[in-house]
Amino acid sequence: MTMLSFHQAVADDFNAVNQLIIDQVNSDVGLVEDIGHYLIEAGGKRLRPLLVLLVANALNYKDTKHHTLAAIIEFIHSATLLHDDVVDLSDLRRGRPTANAKWGNAPSVLVGDFLYSRAFQMMVAIGDMEIMRILSNTTNIISEGEVQQLINAKDPDIDEENYFSVIHKKTAILFEGACETACVLSGCDNETRDNIRAYGYHLGMAFQLIDDALDYTGSTEDLGKNVGDDLAEGKPTLPLIYAMSNSSDDEASLIRNSIKQGDTSQLSDIIDIIHHSGALDYTTELAHQHVNNAIEQVERLPDSIYKQAMIDLAQFSIARKV
Ligand code: IPE
Ligand code: IPE
Ligand code: MG
Ligand code: MG
Repeated sequence: MTMLSFHQAVADDFNAVNQLIIDQVNSDVGLVEDIGHYLIEAGGKRLRPLLVLLVANALNYKDTKHHTLAAIIEFIHSATLLHDDVVDLSDLRRGRPTANAKWGNAPSVLVGDFLYSRAFQMMVAIGDMEIMRILSNTTNIISEGEVQQLINAKDPDIDEENYFSVIHKKTAILFEGACETACVLSGCDNETRDNIRAYGYHLGMAFQLIDDALDYTGSTEDLGKNVGDDLAEGKPTLPLIYAMSNSSDDEASLIRNSIKQGDTSQLSDIIDIIHHSGALDYTTELAHQHVNNAIEQVERLPDSIYKQAMIDLAQFSIARKV
């Protein structure tokens, strides 16, 4: 597991969570463990569990339930990735063939269900009804976001508002849930809780905006997943939505047709259009606004290395190549 600078603030907690995550993928059914370990041992950035640890420490939490909570959040995230790669027909994740590429769709979906339900078993062990309420809503909303995105596929008429709603539901909501449940565990006041949840929201929005930009501008090697997958799925993400309304008629219809057919044969021309229409600047600028907003939300926390790491993490979400 590579630790980024902001992981260092909670290095001991982070190592404990990584061990807990591995321990909790236990099952009597060998294939469940094989697939679970395969995805989990490939690592990933573990940003969502990190958020739990940073928030809990920033709020001076002193027990160890934040380790369980952090592992729960990573399990929910991992479950969504198993399902998402089936739906998106993706064959590379975390620098390895996806579980669906290696074992097929059915085992991936079922092991995704296993990870979801393990997350809920662990929540029961925490025994806090408010955390149960937040995370059951969170997982429910993620599913809605993924279904809405499925409906939007191959539709070039999806507008920005619809897109923002999808990325809020499929991605930002889990960042919010990680932050808010860490607040609940730490027992902070309502104003702090609202601010930290809003921090999670803005960070999550920025994170997905950049993810959608990187699908056109990033490198497969750095990201560990294939660039161009979004176009192959006909996903009308912001770089395309903006480019269609800010380019020539010919360019706009090239993009429209590629979305309709999920056709990547013109990918390099489309990347050029995304650049010169200003779509990339527009997407990045919006991500910047969300990051600034995220940082404002934590300004009133007492100064600490954890608060600083939350600010650094927000900045990383836009500067990232991975
Ligand atoms: C991937 O999330 C899914 C999105 C919301 C874009 P991450 O980029 O955090 O994935 P890992 O866990 O680091 O692999
Ligand atoms: C994020 O969307 C998926 C979920 C949060 C479930 P993407 O489809 O953009 O994520 P990647 O690019 O496959 O990681
Ligand atoms: Mg995907
Ligand atoms: Mg993506």
